[in-house]
Amino acid sequence: MKTIIKLSKINKIIGQEHILKDIDLDIYEGEFVSIIGPSGSGKSSLLYIIGLLDTPTSGSIYIDGNLIDFKNQREIARLRNTKMGFVFQFHYLINELTALENVIVPLIKARVEIGKSKVIARELLKKVGLEGKEDRKPYQLSGGQQQRVAIARALSNNPQVIIADEPTGNLDSKNTQIVMDIFKQLNTEGKTIIMVTHELELANQTNRIISMKDGRIVS
Ligand SMILES: Nc1ncnc2c1ncn2[C@@H]1O[C@H](COP(=O)(O)OP(=O)(O)O)[C@@H](O)[C@H]1O
Ligand SMILES: [Mg+2]
Repeated sequence: MKTIIKLSKINKIIGQEHILKDIDLDIYEGEFVSIIGPSGSGKSSLLYIIGLLDTPTSGSIYIDGNLIDFKNQREIARLRNTKMGFVFQFHYLINELTALENVIVPLIKARVEIGKSKVIARELLKKVGLEGKEDRKPYQLSGGQQQRVAIARALSNNPQVIIADEPTGNLDSKNTQIVMDIFKQLNTEGKTIIMVTHELELANQTNRIISMKDGRIVS
């Protein structure tokens, strides 16, 4: 198995608080990993460091075997924008834009030509079961549908890794399972997925469960 992301002796300290303690973790290409643990145990903090959204106080991160230089924010942004897709508990869609336009935004930022962007965005919305809903604004969609638009948006740069922080935290059980099934399908297609959840039932549907407590990985 190929290691895609490696964390070595990662610590995160904010003020007096020691949030992550000597975290060693290997994420393998193509796996679907869940991170569980009580509220405040450091799950989100760990996920943000894995996703290069935050910098550790000490320790090393390797992506595809290359040591990340935290001083090189430009390279970090490049890795984040090309390799990773993010899904959060709150979808952060732009209310004034349609589903299609929301998915197009990152493509425009990546300088993909508009015609091609539309084709990609339509395909992605179809993939998450939203064919025919392209022109709806977020408030014209259900919570579950909104989260699926957010997933389509996260997929727009064709990321190798999907990073999701409680992506079903606001959804009912039916929509939770729809989102889980989309993640499972994406994983079957080769995406590496790292998902924080507090629902053991969801974690049990993944390849590997990482359990956190008080800033440490306990199993
Ligand atoms: N920006 C921050 N400033 C200070 N403390 C923080 C910050 N972010 C997180 N924490 C603290 O770090 C701990 C872990 O938080 P978090 O990673 O959000 O946990 P979880 O996602 O498991 O609920 C908590 O005690 C939280 O209060
Ligand atoms: Mg959290």
